[in-house]
Amino acid sequence: MLFSLTRRLLFLLPPEVAHDFSMATLDGAQKLGLMRFRPDPIEAPVELMGLRFRNRVGLAAGLDKNADHIGGLEALGFGFLEVGTITPRPQPGNDRPRLFRLPENQALINRMGFNNKGVDHLLEQLDNQPRPGIPIGINIGKNRDTPNHQALTDYRYCLEAVYDVADYVTINLSSPNTPGLRQLQEGQALQGLVNGLMQTRAALADKTDRYVPVLVKVAPDIDPIPLTELADTLLEAGVDGIIATNTTLDRQGVAGIKHANESGGLSGQPLTAKSTDVVQRLRSHIGKQCILIAAGGIVTAKDAVDKVNAGADLVQIYTGLIYQGPSLISQSASALANMPCETRRSPSK
Ligand SMILES: Cc1cc2nc3c(=O)[nH]c(=O)nc-3n(C[C@H](O)[C@H](O)[C@H](O)COP(=O)(O)O)c2cc1C
Repeated sequence: MLFSLTRRLLFLLPPEVAHDFSMATLDGAQKLGLMRFRPDPIEAPVELMGLRFRNRVGLAAGLDKNADHIGGLEALGFGFLEVGTITPRPQPGNDRPRLFRLPENQALINRMGFNNKGVDHLLEQLDNQPRPGIPIGINIGKNRDTPNHQALTDYRYCLEAVYDVADYVTINLSSPNTPGLRQLQEGQALQGLVNGLMQTRAALADKTDRYVPVLVKVAPDIDPIPLTELADTLLEAGVDGIIATNTTLDRQGVAGIKHANESGGLSGQPLTAKSTDVVQRLRSHIGKQCILIAAGGIVTAKDAVDKVNAGADLVQIYTGLIYQGPSLISQSASALANMPCETRRSPSK
């Protein structure tokens, strides 16, 4: 009731202004101690990748790109947070408008283009805020002006920079808004990149005596055969998990809707089935070999349950939070609390 009124008011504002306003309000409430009046987070812990997740519902990357709001977001009841995508150097992203609401479909289209304040800013933020009691994943990318053949340099730079403070690191190869990025999900480009990053991770693990799991985030717009090849390459390289999925370029289900023809990635309800299908195909191909985190169109607790039934260990939400509010977190976390969760491969170090 309260959220539906707040949402109506927020939706009178342009989407990015509403986002900034909501985050500022969250920070203010956190600083004033008002978040303690929120219901307690759902405690339904699971251990995966050597980490303890408070519950199985996390924040998907992109909402807190710079780790500016982790205290308030933790207080909303998430089981874990993924911040980023962060790039080595700050960059402004695409011109505005670059974020569009499709309320009839509980969907968003975004072409933000990795707007972020750069990895140094993120590290400062993590240093200056109290460490949250839940895992923090850091999602890394490459700068727009770095050509694909030099992508490894950017990803390696970020991996080395965040290694000490990340609970896990996500290699984002699937944003549709950085030209050519998704080509890194294919063939030799993928092999070279993930093998290089796994070597870097091994060296960092030796040096620090701490093993940080590395996951790769994939697009939903991949045909079945390339998807299994992608999974094989990731497993051979030794990644710990896959996040499926990022936003889609597909406009099925939104034809004729206002903003449907805007370029960028579509998220929310029109993505649900497509992304659950990717989770299911990945799980049936890889068996229990690695962690799967499902993101894409979770707008009800049932959608979260469907993702776990399809083979996900954990889930993440973004667009559902905008349309349903924070109650979606506790509802989903409660619904998943009693579902079996097999701890799959543990860290090798
Ligand atoms: C405005 C916006 C910005 C996003 N930025 C990122 C990002 O920087 N990195 C990333 O890996 N995913 C990003 N995503 C994708 C989400 O993390 C998520 O994978 C996708 O939206 C599907 O989940 P959803 O339907 O719950 O939103 C973004 C999504 C939105 C809507």
